[in-house]
Amino acid sequence: MNPIKHVAIIMDGNGRWGLRYRNSRNLGHRAGLETVENIIKQTLKKKIKFLTLYAFSTENWRRPKKEIVFLFKLLEEFLTKKINELHNKGIKLKIIGNKKAFSKKLNKILTNSERKTQKNKSLQLNLALNYGSKAELINAVNLTIKKKKHVNEKNIENNLYTNDSPDPDLLIRTGNTNRLSNFLLWQTAYSEIFFVRKLWPDFKTKDYNKILLKFKRIKRNFGNI
Ligand code: IPE
Ligand code: IPE
Ligand code: MG
Repeated sequence: MNPIKHVAIIMDGNGRWGLRYRNSRNLGHRAGLETVENIIKQTLKKKIKFLTLYAFSTENWRRPKKEIVFLFKLLEEFLTKKINELHNKGIKLKIIGNKKAFSKKLNKILTNSERKTQKNKSLQLNLALNYGSKAELINAVNLTIKKKKHVNEKNIENNLYTNDSPDPDLLIRTGNTNRLSNFLLWQTAYSEIFFVRKLWPDFKTKDYNKILLKFKRIKRNFGNI
């Protein structure tokens, strides 16, 4: 049985769910937040040490302003309301992505949340915000060169946003779309990938458990036989 250290998730399908059931993409994002809480809870319960959630990509800036504003308000609201609960559960929050694009207010909330939870050990929650794998890699190569180090695997990994997390064992994408959308392209070189038909707000603990179980039985070769 394969052990699971790190699960990464592309939480896709909120917009379609919202349009279908609430006549509003934004209400789909709000519904998706419930799934986020459930999945965090279940990850803790399963004693998985790292969970990475893709919440906003470097390409998501192409969306209508109204939706972008709503998403960041939702994030602010979530952290303000829930950071104590996350902290009490022993969750360490880490933002991966480029924070420079965010407002002063949001930056402060993010930094404070990270600082408050930095010593926690139960679960590291990597929240990918304004995250793009290509930007991350370019940044890592530039940092490596700046530090006058050789550009090799080890040094690039040391300079990725995820330098304190093992590579994901499995990657899940909900929303019936089979692509990576610029997410963890380096880190998923050997991850098992699960594409799920269900939209993110419909993704339940039961669906998650099924995938975890399926993963445990896969023969992982890493090039070997
Ligand atoms: C959530 O799903 C992902 C985010 C960017 C927050 P979407 O908003 O992409 O939902 P669909 O794919 O349009 O249904
Ligand atoms: C990927 O979903 C980004 C997040 C889940 C945050 P998108 O909905 O933005 O991906 P594309 O544009 O369909 O590839
Ligand atoms: Mg989408």
